[in-house]
Amino acid sequence: MKSKASAPGKIILFGEHFVVYGVKAILCAIDKRVTVSAEKIPQNKISIKSSFGNIVESPDRPIKEIESQFRPFYYLADKMIQKYKEKFGIEITITSEIPSGVGLGSSSACCVASAAAISGLFTKNSKEEILQMAIEAEKTIFPNNSGADSTVCTYGGLIQYDKKGGFSKIDTEINFDLIIANSKIKHSTKEVVSYVKNFKENNEERFAIICNEVNRLVEDVLICIKNNDLEGIGRNMTKNQKYLESIGVSNEKLREMIALSNKSSFGAKLTGAGDGGCIFSLADKNNLQKTVNNLEEKNYECFTGKIDFTGLDTF
Ligand code: MEV
Repeated sequence: MKSKASAPGKIILFGEHFVVYGVKAILCAIDKRVTVSAEKIPQNKISIKSSFGNIVESPDRPIKEIESQFRPFYYLADKMIQKYKEKFGIEITITSEIPSGVGLGSSSACCVASAAAISGLFTKNSKEEILQMAIEAEKTIFPNNSGADSTVCTYGGLIQYDKKGGFSKIDTEINFDLIIANSKIKHSTKEVVSYVKNFKENNEERFAIICNEVNRLVEDVLICIKNNDLEGIGRNMTKNQKYLESIGVSNEKLREMIALSNKSSFGAKLTGAGDGGCIFSLADKNNLQKTVNNLEEKNYECFTGKIDFTGLDTF
């Protein structure tokens, strides 16, 4: 028996980094997916096949001994094998349309789809249960993650998220086009989050003021979303980018890509941890192609995307 699941990538529309310190963030699932299939195999082994490599390991090994990029998937498979005292093994195959390590939620989408596919071999779980497993699994490589990325990959659409209050879906008719451009500079989310922690500790007062301003900005964006006001959302993206600049998570290349996008789109900013990775611009059918041209003329690779309203899908 095969169990299959897929989950979308994401962008953080507003509030990355500040969300780690309790500020509300707004996230959007995008129409690029990870698909995971899981199958019981006769050998008592955990086998993982993916574009980032393959491993075959015995179950019940200390998680720290597993190569880090495979840890979440090994963790999920091993947990099920131990829970159900399984004599068989599990083979996991991961395929992805989402570039990894560039702020588009590929790690969270892999964790969500894997949690659903692997647990689906044993029992049926609710989205909430799958999300909890995915967050636990992602913590094996990224212990301080806020859980925001996995949440939007599970539920799809637009969500507001804060660490204390949890998340809620933003009920909206809004639709827009996204132009996502990759700086091709890989970043480590863990390292950038730890850099921001350091920045905060050395600038407590300044950081608290910025957090308050981002909180206000997010409330304003929620009104813009309600009013289908793409120009208002775009203006706030430019403001949010300034706050990200002020904590030092942007760089020259991202600034250049954002400036090119701003010539025609409603607004642009980095998404995710920053210090590399991707930027995205907000557009509709009238300024979409112009924005793509502005980036491509300067040899920046980009692709267009839409909101994914499905979230986790099992089949
Ligand atoms: C990473 O996609 C988003 C950050 O805010 C970290 C997190 O929320 O866990 C930088």
